[in-house]
Amino acid sequence: MKILVFDTKQEVSEFIANKVIDQVQKKPDTVLGLATGSTPKEAYRYIKNDYKQNNRDYSKVITFNLDEYLGVLKDSINSYRQYMKEALFEGINIPNSQQYFPLKTNMKNYDNLIKEHGGVDLQLLGIGLNGHIAFNEPGSSFQSKTRIIELDESTRKRNSKYFRSIDHVPTQAISMGISTIMKAKEIILAATSEVKADIIKQLVDSNINENLPASILKTHENFTLVLDQEAARDIN
Ligand code: PGA
Repeated sequence: MKILVFDTKQEVSEFIANKVIDQVQKKPDTVLGLATGSTPKEAYRYIKNDYKQNNRDYSKVITFNLDEYLGVLKDSINSYRQYMKEALFEGINIPNSQQYFPLKTNMKNYDNLIKEHGGVDLQLLGIGLNGHIAFNEPGSSFQSKTRIIELDESTRKRNSKYFRSIDHVPTQAISMGISTIMKAKEIILAATSEVKADIIKQLVDSNINENLPASILKTHENFTLVLDQEAARDIN
């Protein structure tokens, strides 16, 4: 595991954006694994600005999102498809047909679909306060594939800020599995702000165990943890 610590969240965002931009320059038909949530939002904004300013081409890029809520309509402001549309997709030129989300209709085939496209070249991840990656909550098997997951109450509570109330937060989602994520050729996990300091310390200090899903990433041969000072506060 490589750990990079930047002074600010903005520098973390620029680092992630530049990784994506460089990857697509190097390999125009790159397969990206994409995350939602508050952490990558600034990076996506930076990618959109760079696209406008520098005439980039994303027409051959293929994307696989990590997860999607169950029971939220595709066009709802709370769907991750809608998040991606607003955060990134409407600002760059990846064709709709090359943007994949795990859904009830394709979830049994999602891992195969990724494989058929040559596997994920660069996977972006966030981390939950309970150590989840995608929606693989603590206790998820390291062998898990894309499937339906019951969301932890702590996850529902944290994500309730995007909904009218916690009662409106779905109880289930479809998520790439941990074995699915681990097949990516390169993985970057970003964590910013002091709310993440505790889980990042646990991640750095812990042994590899299924109660801390992100801990498995430490066995990946091309894994980078990217932090701002606040998230890195408690690590040595
Ligand atoms: P966040 O979510 O970026 O909104 O903190 C991360 C996650 O739950 O994986």
